[in-house]
Amino acid sequence: MSEAYDRWMVPTVFRPFALEVARRIGVRRPRRVLELAAGTGVLTREILATTGTADVTATDLNEAMVEYGRKNVPDATWQVADALDLPFDDGRFDVIACQFGVMFFPDKPKAHAEARRVLEPDGSYFLTSWATIDDHEFETAVVAALERLFPDDPPRFLQSVPHGYADLAVIVADLQAGGLEPVSAETLTLEGQMASAVDLATGYCTGTPLRAQIEDRGGDPAAAIVVVAEELERRLGPGPVAGRMTAHVVEAAPAL
Ligand SMILES: C[S@@+](CC[C@H](N)C(=O)[O-])C[C@H]1O[C@@H](n2cnc3c(N)ncnc32)[C@H](O)[C@@H]1O
Repeated sequence: MSEAYDRWMVPTVFRPFALEVARRIGVRRPRRVLELAAGTGVLTREILATTGTADVTATDLNEAMVEYGRKNVPDATWQVADALDLPFDDGRFDVIACQFGVMFFPDKPKAHAEARRVLEPDGSYFLTSWATIDDHEFETAVVAALERLFPDDPPRFLQSVPHGYADLAVIVADLQAGGLEPVSAETLTLEGQMASAVDLATGYCTGTPLRAQIEDRGGDPAAAIVVVAEELERRLGPGPVAGRMTAHVVEAAPAL
């Protein structure tokens, strides 16, 4: 899944936000950066580019992601780590970043408290989380196609996980519960682009947990790709696809 994710999902859906987050991190001129839930390293690469000499440690819970990331972005130090139980000393990092990972954490205030623990007292924590699914043109199309394919029991991964932490008020309350205070919170809409609807449909149906949800329902990911691509084309037009995607970009600092 890590290869499919990196090939078909990352350039379109994740890289536009990685560029924005890395630019904000670069302004802070950090020396020691920790990335949580780094996946295959799309943000890691951009952090290395914007921070120059910073020492970047990239972590993820999933070993396959870490192995892939280590080859993909070898200038960072890669390590398997659960964001809820970080294997680092207190106050070790001056910046922590987590792009589209927090929604997967089962106990978000606990993860925020762990980030707070390993952050310097004057450090910065950057996190991104998707806004509601209605504000993501690709994912509303994917959901509509899967609802047609599995009318009795449609896969709900996109609504329940990636878009399940969309309420900024809840994010702020959870950060505060973890001992962090938001410094800024922006809701950004960026455009994702992909060479074809089939490529993007391949990403969603083979490079995300939707693959398992399709197979669990007796579906064939190859057949699902056709239906999802048709829906993307019907909504966004033929040829290269472009769609609007909205996410929250939050910077927080340790509460005094
Ligand atoms: C949607 S991906 C985002 C990856 C990367 N940040 C990016 O922007 O492409 C979510 C990542 O969260 C990781 N993850 C899920 N639960 C985690 C946890 N408890 N601790 C650390 N990483 C976790 C997954 O393995 C996956 O790589």
